[in-house]
Amino acid sequence: MQEQIVILDFGSQYTQVIARRIRECRVYSTIVRYDTPARELAAMQPRGLILSGGPASVYDRHAPLPDRGIFDLGVPILGICYGLQVIGQFLGGKVERGLRREYGKGTLEVVDGACPLFRGLPRRLQVWNSHGDRLTRLPRGFKAVAVTDNSPYAAIEHRARKIFGVQFHPEVVHTPRGREILAHFVHGVCGCGRNWTMRSYAERAIEDIRRRVGSERVILGLSGGVDSSVAAALLHRAIGDQLTCIFVNNGLLRAREAEVVQEVFGRHFKIRLQYEDASRLFLSRLRGVTDPERKRKIIGRTFIEVFEAATRRAGPARFLAQGTVYPDVIESVPIGGNPAALIKSHHNVGGLPRRMRFELVEPLKCLFKDEVRQLGLELGLPKEIVWRQPFPGPGLAVRILGEVTRERLEILRNADAIVVEEMKRTGWYYKIWQSFAVLLPVRSVGVMGDERSYDYTIAIRAVESQDGMTADWVKLPPELLERLANRIINEVRGVNRCVFDITSKPPGTIEWE
Ligand code: XMP
Repeated sequence: MQEQIVILDFGSQYTQVIARRIRECRVYSTIVRYDTPARELAAMQPRGLILSGGPASVYDRHAPLPDRGIFDLGVPILGICYGLQVIGQFLGGKVERGLRREYGKGTLEVVDGACPLFRGLPRRLQVWNSHGDRLTRLPRGFKAVAVTDNSPYAAIEHRARKIFGVQFHPEVVHTPRGREILAHFVHGVCGCGRNWTMRSYAERAIEDIRRRVGSERVILGLSGGVDSSVAAALLHRAIGDQLTCIFVNNGLLRAREAEVVQEVFGRHFKIRLQYEDASRLFLSRLRGVTDPERKRKIIGRTFIEVFEAATRRAGPARFLAQGTVYPDVIESVPIGGNPAALIKSHHNVGGLPRRMRFELVEPLKCLFKDEVRQLGLELGLPKEIVWRQPFPGPGLAVRILGEVTRERLEILRNADAIVVEEMKRTGWYYKIWQSFAVLLPVRSVGVMGDERSYDYTIAIRAVESQDGMTADWVKLPPELLERLANRIINEVRGVNRCVFDITSKPPGTIEWE
């Protein structure tokens, strides 16, 4: 069985960050709900448990608490923030509301350098805090290994039982030596090796797919995005021609998109690729439609219709593959504090109709996005695919305000191609979440040479984000903005004005719609 660390999620906004940090140590990690029964945890044979932070107080009436049995599993435990308080509460310590919230940067003083978590680290460490409660009495058998100005028990341990707790957040970047603390826990305390690599993952996943699929056929909807592309490459490696990929051209794609996908997957990988050009159908249904929600509905419905017909043409298949990634499947813990987790809206075309009876294959379901990218490289996908920025399912339709017409699509494609080209040339494309052009259907006056023009406006959008839920506009250098505007206005017919969008999300959204 794969060596793993299991993380109990008490609703912290950082739980996924913990999981990623552990995987960066080349140790597999899984997130489960805080109340997963101890016997289920035992069956997972974890090498260690981590109790995440969380917004609640352990003494609240509805505080999320774990199965008491976790402390008898005999595996090492690390409690982070709320997790430390859970340890305190269960093992006989005392947790109280602090006199004031400790939030932000702080200094930790390690008083017991022999504690395996802090081995080899300086005595004074910068750490990140975010908590209101604190431990005021140690549970039996524990001792303090680090203190802060505010708290005599900022890190605690029970050396013999291998149970540790830290009040700060070692997983966040604002705790600069935090990665080492987590690495000490997983390697030093739990004894995990460094076996989680994308190569080993690929080998195992290929075996699993072969076993599951046998000699049956699999269909995959290929969008050209990172996830479905990597899923396609992985499945193809596993089952070759038993895989058929269906690529739908909805007429709302970026410049050269359909060509790139056919070139990479059809010609290079020699994947069975069924190319469905439905652009006329989509565009005819969108004629005259200006309301953004209606546009989305029409596109969603048409997609299902086209895809369903395409699967029938592809012939009988038992399985449908999807590029679902780990953040899509982690069950969120909706306790207190974190409303963002609850309003996470699912943009993607909601499931296919029930009458399409497929069994699902989701070979990326336990990978984070950065791991999916690594896997893509491992499987030989070109950088152009692996480092793509996200692109919405309804395509350019959400980047043309008002009616979508062929003329407007052509203008936007040309402007967008310049944005992508310049962003790639300067390296910005790979550093940020998204950068693209938006077409505003308002005309304004300009002068071009000796003539007056009366043309459209292009808005340039560039945002930084972790997951698309919140975003900041990117402070692109003025020289780059100048070049973008010059090129777009000079090279794209129909545009005489460029603006740069400096709205964050919230209150704005990333797409203009
Ligand atoms: P908004 O505009 O809501 O976008 O701030 C957040 C992120 O989601 C992407 N997006 C979509 N992705 N299907 C998708 O697969 C969609 O319908 C869709 N709409 C928006 C958007 O590009 C951004 O990254």
